[in-house]
Amino acid sequence: MSEEREALAELARRRGLFFPANEAYGGTAGFYVYGPTGAAIKRNVEDAWRDRFAIGEGNMEIDAPTIMPEPVFVASGHLDGFDDMLVECAECGESHRADHLVEAATGMEDAETLEPEEIAELIAEADLACPNCGAALAGQDVTDFNLMFETNIGPGSDAPGYLRPETAQGIFVEFPRLREYARDQLPFGVTQVGRAYRNEISPRRGLIRVREFTQAELELFVDPERDEADLSSVADVTLTLYPAEQQGAEGREYVETTVAEAVDDGTIAIDWIAYYLGLAQEWYSSIGVDMDRFRFRQHLPGERAHYAADCWDAEAEVGGDWIELAGFAYRGDYDLSRHAAHADDEFTVFQQYDESVTVERPCVDPDMSVLGPEFGELATDVGNALADLAERDPGAFDGEAVPVEVDGQTYDVPTAATGFAVEEVTESGEHVTPHVVEPSFGVDRLVYTHCAHALREDEVDGEPRTRLALPPASAPTFVGVFPLMDRDGMGERSREVADRLRSRGFAVAYDDAGSIGRRYRRQDEVGTPYCVTVDYESLDDGTATLRDRDTVAQRRVDLDDLPDVLAALRADERAFENVGVAVADA
Ligand code: GAP
Repeated sequence: MSEEREALAELARRRGLFFPANEAYGGTAGFYVYGPTGAAIKRNVEDAWRDRFAIGEGNMEIDAPTIMPEPVFVASGHLDGFDDMLVECAECGESHRADHLVEAATGMEDAETLEPEEIAELIAEADLACPNCGAALAGQDVTDFNLMFETNIGPGSDAPGYLRPETAQGIFVEFPRLREYARDQLPFGVTQVGRAYRNEISPRRGLIRVREFTQAELELFVDPERDEADLSSVADVTLTLYPAEQQGAEGREYVETTVAEAVDDGTIAIDWIAYYLGLAQEWYSSIGVDMDRFRFRQHLPGERAHYAADCWDAEAEVGGDWIELAGFAYRGDYDLSRHAAHADDEFTVFQQYDESVTVERPCVDPDMSVLGPEFGELATDVGNALADLAERDPGAFDGEAVPVEVDGQTYDVPTAATGFAVEEVTESGEHVTPHVVEPSFGVDRLVYTHCAHALREDEVDGEPRTRLALPPASAPTFVGVFPLMDRDGMGERSREVADRLRSRGFAVAYDDAGSIGRRYRRQDEVGTPYCVTVDYESLDDGTATLRDRDTVAQRRVDLDDLPDVLAALRADERAFENVGVAVADA
């Protein structure tokens, strides 16, 4: 493990950020608990996401069940195609993600685009050994392993269900109702922040690859013919792009470009995707991701999910590895068409034209007195096939007879008996299957990256200190309140201060244990931006020391003003050096 990841894992365990679950029972790989500090950071990150992508964009938010019945995943394609490649060690029985083993050994970046047989060959060629016991893996089968967790809905086993592998399906399945809430107006967006489950073959790297995780997903439903992304608010945002053609190339390069340029020169082919990359770039930066360790990587053609027409990932570097934080996919009409084909509902939106239009519509009115005797029990199917053909290929009705196919067999129908005509019809609109644009964020990977990028080791008064330089919006606690000592009324005064701050909506940590220096260090380690110390002087003149986490500078502040001062600091309306008076001058 890299030094950075080791330092984070140690801090995470010691200070309640996150830790492996069920350790009292030997642990369960791929499941993590957020401790009190980490749960607060995660909640803050989710709220920041909601503010930007749900409320800030005027999108709805829903909260759907995490277990869904089997037909949903037949329709979505997950039952058939949501697989990773598995190789098992014959010696110790350990399961491994076969493509990851190949990537780690060969430096390949896209092994998942290969077929299982090709991966098996590469394992043999590179003479790969089991990372657990060292036995040779050559000759072992590489198989597809479906990542969904299966369960039964209700007693008995005739209603299989699955834990959703993405929150998105809960949105697609409810589309017929959500469309009504959007009053049949495209485009509209629906968000969901919730748990997803994948039975990962080899969960690893802390929160990075787990079996239960949180996604924050936005599904934007658009009319592909009429709706265009308005890029004006993000046109000048500079992106670091890693296009597909650069990956694996000699001297690969990132492309630094604005959203507008990337769309103009075709680097990003789909405007909607470009819009969300711009939005995400600004949002990641605002919540404290180190943008010098960040890029958008385009999926290679074979790497795209079964539904995606184009896809870019947001990636961040931690400990030398690039972590996929989010995916931005153009899913086309795949999802709604599939559910329309499998479910018993309409997955379209009726789009009213600005003005009614008169169109020519080829149609048929078969003469059943001819078709009946000619085709017997197939007559109705032949009639339906004629209607389809008229819509698809009216030219087929030009000759004496029309060939139609029914159950793989071609029949010739006399054109005169088809009742073929081209009618003029007035239409006020049409049923459209919306296309889906999907920014899909992984919350856990973001919490992890966020903490890793905020982790600092420095020295204060000659002592090493660990500090989480989290921005105030995601810090689990905003202010620590300490009495210099819990005596002579300083404890009571401090508790009053803490209560007042809590009632103003600040997350406050009260601490009266150990030296002041130790208490500062404890707050630095969990990212608390400010600390207040109530001392003897506070009892005399009503002022207290306010300390800044990052600079360790201290100002003397009137306790009556403290809530307003902290509110101004939190909103970034005042700089720390402009509040109260410097301690040396006090
Ligand atoms: N609906 C699209 C979708 O689910 P994805 O790329 O498979 O796309 C989206 O997942 C995000 O969810 C990823 O970018 C990643 O941040 C997160 N994610 C996926 N699998 C994960 C896992 N096993 N552990 C933690 N996060 C995961």
